[in-house]
Amino acid sequence: MNVMGISGTPRTNGNSEILLRYALKPFENNGWNVKIFLLSELTIKPCNACESCRETGTCIINDDMQRIYDAFQWCNAIIISSPVYFLNVSAQLHSILDRHYAVDAEKPLEGKVGGAIAVGGGTTGGQTITLNTIYTWMLSCGIICVPGELFGVKAVAGKPGDILNQENQLKQAEILGSNILKVTTELKEITGFNNYPKYNQEVCVK
Ligand SMILES: Cc1cc2nc3c(=O)[nH]c(=O)nc-3n(C[C@H](O)[C@H](O)[C@H](O)COP(=O)(O)O)c2cc1C
Repeated sequence: MNVMGISGTPRTNGNSEILLRYALKPFENNGWNVKIFLLSELTIKPCNACESCRETGTCIINDDMQRIYDAFQWCNAIIISSPVYFLNVSAQLHSILDRHYAVDAEKPLEGKVGGAIAVGGGTTGGQTITLNTIYTWMLSCGIICVPGELFGVKAVAGKPGDILNQENQLKQAEILGSNILKVTTELKEITGFNNYPKYNQEVCVK
């Protein structure tokens, strides 16, 4: 079984990256293949709305997003973390969410399982909006969204690494990972993951 993590912080060792790593621990402990994509290292340009993907089904921008498209196909589960920037996801992460546009007809993430983590410097509510953005994107991709103990993981931290002093939040991230692992494993028993559930689009489109 395969899980991918996307860390949306541009900061090396950012608090949201650390929580993502904690959320991925249960998968490592259970022998899953784990791929983590750090937006502090990758270059992913924004969608330029050229619409060529509508003709070809692929994105013509040749950057690190091509690796993420492959991982969308490869994974059974996905966890995304983001810092809160102006009450929402980072621009780096938003580029990935938009670039899914190129493959949305193919629905590479449909029927897979996901969850989200948000870290802000303050308590003005940006974590909730950030989680909503990620979970809404996941639902639009056909991902089955799984919560942690309560919603996704919401944390407050400042300097990179500060979150390591918050035992409870590290635990919350592991709980999120364990919940996603459990749902994905149970889904595998039902579907075999050979043929992802293809939702009946006709009913809602007409
Ligand atoms: C451009 C920018 C915008 C930010 N906006 C917010 C915000 O709206 N709300 C908030 O709580 N924190 C805000 N912050 C603080 C970060 O969310 C905080 O430092 C967080 O720890 C970043 O996550 P990271 O450690 O994973 O990089 C902002 C920081 C930056 C650089």
